[in-house]
Amino acid sequence: MSERFDVVVIGSGPAGYIAAIRAAQLGFKVACVERWKNPAGEGVLGGTCLNVGCIPSKALLASSEEYEKLTGDLGEHGITVTGAKVDIARMMARKDGIVGKMTKGIEFLFRKNRITWLKGHGRFLPSADGFFRIEVAGEGEPEVSEAKNVIIATGSNPRQLPGIEVDNESICDNVGALSLAAVPRRLGVIGAGVIGLELGSVWRRLGSEVTVLEAMPAFLAACDDAVAKEAARSFAKQGLDIQLGVSIGDVRKSRKGVSISYADAKGEAKSLEVDRLVVSVGRVPNTDGLGLEAVGIEVDERGFVPVDDHCRTRVPGLYAIGDVVRGPMLAHKGEDEGVMVAELIAGQAPHIDYNTIPWVIYTAPEIAWVGKTEQQLKAEGRDYHAGQFPFAANGRALGMGHPEGFVKVLADAKTDEVLGVHIIAHNASDLIAEAAVAMEFKASAEDIGRVCHPHPSMSEVVREAALASNKRALNM
Ligand code: FAD
Ligand code: NAI
Repeated sequence: MSERFDVVVIGSGPAGYIAAIRAAQLGFKVACVERWKNPAGEGVLGGTCLNVGCIPSKALLASSEEYEKLTGDLGEHGITVTGAKVDIARMMARKDGIVGKMTKGIEFLFRKNRITWLKGHGRFLPSADGFFRIEVAGEGEPEVSEAKNVIIATGSNPRQLPGIEVDNESICDNVGALSLAAVPRRLGVIGAGVIGLELGSVWRRLGSEVTVLEAMPAFLAACDDAVAKEAARSFAKQGLDIQLGVSIGDVRKSRKGVSISYADAKGEAKSLEVDRLVVSVGRVPNTDGLGLEAVGIEVDERGFVPVDDHCRTRVPGLYAIGDVVRGPMLAHKGEDEGVMVAELIAGQAPHIDYNTIPWVIYTAPEIAWVGKTEQQLKAEGRDYHAGQFPFAANGRALGMGHPEGFVKVLADAKTDEVLGVHIIAHNASDLIAEAAVAMEFKASAEDIGRVCHPHPSMSEVVREAALASNKRALNM
């Protein structure tokens, strides 16, 4: 006899595991299906984010930033260090240790919330008696579970480029790029998006010559133009060679490394020889072997599971969240969808304002934003006022040796409601949270300007930019 659950979640990435926990908090009997195995062959929870995404990339970004400090940035503090060395094996072991702690943490949370982990690959069988039926194929015989509600949270995979075979040795996706055994002398990256810039930064700081080849003629097109310009200047100064408007041709592996033929923005034929290549050209939703046809669901033309604003599919009781549905492929977006769906199942009336989901790129300086860019407001014909304030005029930023960057606040011309906040700065990831809260509460720029901010702190720049949008910055 199959075991029956109120809610079965397929996938335990940030979308799935949070959905499972919230559903359990609300009193449901919950199971979560997960098939992921770590390199040691053990089943692990946490999905892309914890195993080969957000968490390991941020660990390596932090380690490489410490190394770069020692080899240059500390000079202005009057501190000289000689003989700084990188031990990649130890750096990787630290990263793997953090991943292990985090994934074990989810196992603990599952036990605490009495969530059953169904280990193996999940797939839909035709529903019967008003219950979804899910077969889980793990180590032993496949087992079938039944559920009143199912949440699909099967995530995404790296997009492949035709003719470029990722082996995670010389040609890597995020998995290989987070586990290189040595610092490549020359590293090539295809795609100047979030992964390309973050992981390109890691290896550049550790000593690689990094060339990034990007198809689009504009750099960081999703960012506010002023931020994208500042970022391009900053990354060029650091030595990241970013070439825009390229068209990738043949990519061949040789004994020495990888050779990439491409046409540059002017159409001239070029070639690049590198020791390792990272391909980071976006991600695609994952519904492999899920058996969606058994429940009457067809993916859309881009492979996403179609859902409404509340992550409901067309089949009652069947939901989909996270990277496998429309919207930004961000861990915190998936988490919020997980909470929303669990609360919907419980009969509550949750809601997500997708306009207030913050974005962060963890380069140095970090880039973070929430809401509309200035170019979007112009395209919409919306009347707005803008204020910008530099970190170079902030005592805390100077004291920390991080004077680069600025905050830009965009607010409605009539109502002064904050429409967008854009930050390029050290720790922009933490600073943006204030802007997201302000926008959720429909704050005006004046509201932010009237709130007392701690001194000296980087957050004063958010306040000054808000004041600047009403032409009343105090320190400029
Ligand atoms: P996933 O995390 O992909 O999890 C899906 C899970 O479902 C997987 O564990 C998979 O094994 C399981 N699964 C799939 N199909 C089945 C099946 N049929 N049966 C059983 N199990 C199944 N986002 C941020 O917000 N901040 C960051 O800093 C950030 N950094 C990133 C860095 C990198 C290098 C990468 C690659 C991504 C990063 N992301 C970041 C994006 C983030 O990782 C994803 O948005 C997030 O993991 C999506 O969560 P998810 O739960 O939808 O899917
Ligand atoms: P991306 O969408 O951020 O960037 C891909 C880049 O590759 C784009 O600039 C695109 O124009 C370029 N590109 C596409 N095809 C190309 C081609 N043939 N030749 C050259 N360039 C090409 O995708 P990325 O970096 O792979 O990351 C995937 C997703 O993972 C991100 O969109 C983001 O949602 C998530 N992520 C989030 C992070 C964060 O929040 N800090 C960090 C890393 C990933």
